[in-house]
Amino acid sequence: MSAETHDPSVNGRPYALIQRLLHWLIALFVILLLMAGLVIGTLGYEGLVERFGNDVTNLMYKTHKTFGVLVLGLMIARLGLRVALGAPDYARALPGWQRIASRVSHWAFYGLLIAMPVVGWLATAAGGYPVEFFNWTLPGLIDRNPELSKALFELHALIGFVLIALILVHAGAALLHWLLWRDGVMHRMALFAKRD
Ligand code: HEM
Repeated sequence: MSAETHDPSVNGRPYALIQRLLHWLIALFVILLLMAGLVIGTLGYEGLVERFGNDVTNLMYKTHKTFGVLVLGLMIARLGLRVALGAPDYARALPGWQRIASRVSHWAFYGLLIAMPVVGWLATAAGGYPVEFFNWTLPGLIDRNPELSKALFELHALIGFVLIALILVHAGAALLHWLLWRDGVMHRMALFAKRD
């Protein structure tokens, strides 16, 4: 690694530690949720029961819902922190197109990662299924409505594919900043970066 990536005066300040922790925890949960969601969406309830039996299938659904609700809570906390603490200045001003691309993609993440669990929650409730969070059942918030449930699950799947595309672009951009442009951008979200 070059000296450049170690020198805080070159890299600038990172986000607050709590913001960096939330970033990586949410990233981990969302990637696992997308993978589990794809398996659930591809095989469907009956397909899962056929392959893995009732207990494992129900556990998969319950785990997916629980971690989805967790992501909702963590994203609300993250949005609050972003508004309250803001983002650190860049070590070097980004070219205009990169500044616009990063703003659009970062706010798209906030919107989609809040919309995704809300839609999953409402789709589940409208289907008459329990909104499980660990061993609790959360209020469904809307009445049973199978048609609406179907439409919301379709939206849930669509947002999932948009999120996968956005994650690929986001991770690709992070790698470019880190390995090719070496402009200190990756340092802003690095878990072990020093703040001063
Ligand atoms: C960030 C949070 C979430 C992500 C990334 C996510 C992702 C996904 C994905 C990719 C699918 C597959 C869609 C398909 O191909 O049909 C799925 C399915 C599903 N999700 Fe989520 N989800 C999240 C939150 C939630 C929440 C909070 C709930 C409910 C409380 C939920 C309930 C479900 C259910 C029941 C299915 C299965 C739908 C079916 O059987 O067709 N999800 N999820």
